[in-house]
Amino acid sequence: MTNIGFGIDVGGSGIKGARVNLDTGEFIDDRIKIPTPQPATPGAVAATVEEIVRLADWDGPVGITLPSVIRNQRALTAANIDPSWVDTDVNSLFHETLGHRRISVLNDADAAGLAEVSFGNPEARSGSVILLTFGTGIGSAFLMDGELFPNTELGHLLVDGVEAEHLASSAVKEREDLRYGQWARERVSPVLREFERLFWPSLFIVGGGISRKAHKWVPKLECSTRVVPAELRNRAGIVGAAMAVDRDLTP
Ligand code: BGC
Repeated sequence: MTNIGFGIDVGGSGIKGARVNLDTGEFIDDRIKIPTPQPATPGAVAATVEEIVRLADWDGPVGITLPSVIRNQRALTAANIDPSWVDTDVNSLFHETLGHRRISVLNDADAAGLAEVSFGNPEARSGSVILLTFGTGIGSAFLMDGELFPNTELGHLLVDGVEAEHLASSAVKEREDLRYGQWARERVSPVLREFERLFWPSLFIVGGGISRKAHKWVPKLECSTRVVPAELRNRAGIVGAAMAVDRDLTP
């Protein structure tokens, strides 16, 4: 029998959910996407999450990602989301709209890391790997032989006095209209060099929507550590969320 789960990825522009085959990491049916309510307050996001679960006609456990540090099922930061998330008890919040069922909430990049280890690039499974997601911000997942060290938040590390994600996210590339080569050499490379100077990973895996165009920028990166693209791309958050609740991971 197929082992099926459900994951929801809360992003800045869309909230996306799907039933996931937990043996293969594939979606069972098309994902459901609803624009993120503005302002994206906890109450508004919880209502949208409930709508997705209702549309999918799903009554099992639900895993949910947030672009926030999650410790003891509390959101502790809100760099790119509504400030009212800080110190929200996310478990109680989502139980209010989703009712009695198992719920796990975790950081979006950590979810992507979990998913990549099981279903993505096989290189994610061994060594000291830093997976980075490039989007509105920069998310990070530290993986040691496939085991996750959660909530690493490298996007906020200062590089030349500027937060890494303010220098090199894909939102910055768009906002400043940078070409792939320029962005890779002048923005992403110094960030990767700073990360390698401090953490000496064996490999970087780069994900997020922009990894679809990896061939345009990954070969132009200048750092000593090998860099490979993530394979799961925008499926990673949903799959990782579904895996987290299936494994009863509640960071
Ligand atoms: C947040 C992280 C998140 C990343 C990617 C950062 O601004 O602090 O928690 O993983 O954006 O969404």
